[in-house]
Amino acid sequence: MIIAIDGPAAAGKGTLSQLLAERLDLAWLETGSLYRAVALRMLRDGSDLRDSRTAVKAVEHLDANDLNDPELRREDVGQAASRIAANPEVRAALVGFQRDFARQPPGRVRGAVLDGRDIGTIVCPDADYKIFITATPEARARRRFLELQEDGNQGDEQQVLATTLERDARDSERSTSPLRPADDAYLLDTTNLSIDAAFAALMAYISGSSDCILG
Ligand code: DC
Repeated sequence: MIIAIDGPAAAGKGTLSQLLAERLDLAWLETGSLYRAVALRMLRDGSDLRDSRTAVKAVEHLDANDLNDPELRREDVGQAASRIAANPEVRAALVGFQRDFARQPPGRVRGAVLDGRDIGTIVCPDADYKIFITATPEARARRRFLELQEDGNQGDEQQVLATTLERDARDSERSTSPLRPADDAYLLDTTNLSIDAAFAALMAYISGSSDCILG
């Protein structure tokens, strides 16, 4: 079983993907962490984010430790990831890994859930379930602002909203694999939903699909 989940930043797709993975016994790949890991490496090396050769080299040198680096969650790393994600060579270099993960997930699992921006449209267009999770920019900025506060960071909610809108625009307007729902995606707006309610809606969608085998 392959579940493809897409949507803008802070819509809830990470939390919901993880819950689905646990409930349905699936491996989970947060594909944003791949773009973030490339961006973090380039920031640390002081590389020019527009330099395709260096970015593709960074992809080739990625390893499992890079994907677990706590610094990946930094706000500036998210912005840098969004910039390098507009580069078609970087996307091409990362797509194979994502498809391999979907086809042959690690461990004894029943399949995989991948979340990102182009999973239902480009990475796994034949996924069994395609879901697009969204929420208003204000709701997403508020969540991100509260997360930053919880992590002990000072923040300004208006500033978080501005960077959220900037990232949305860049991710949606790029010419290669822009953020958009697949034509046959199930759309879920989490603006006024708790995580429990959103998860229940997804489970209802998945169990309502005739070819789904739920344990
Ligand atoms: O999901 P995230 O916020 O960790 O992703 C960081 C950036 O990576 C996001 O702004 C755009 C890019 N990204 C992408 O272009 N395609 C994906 N499948 C996942 C992330």
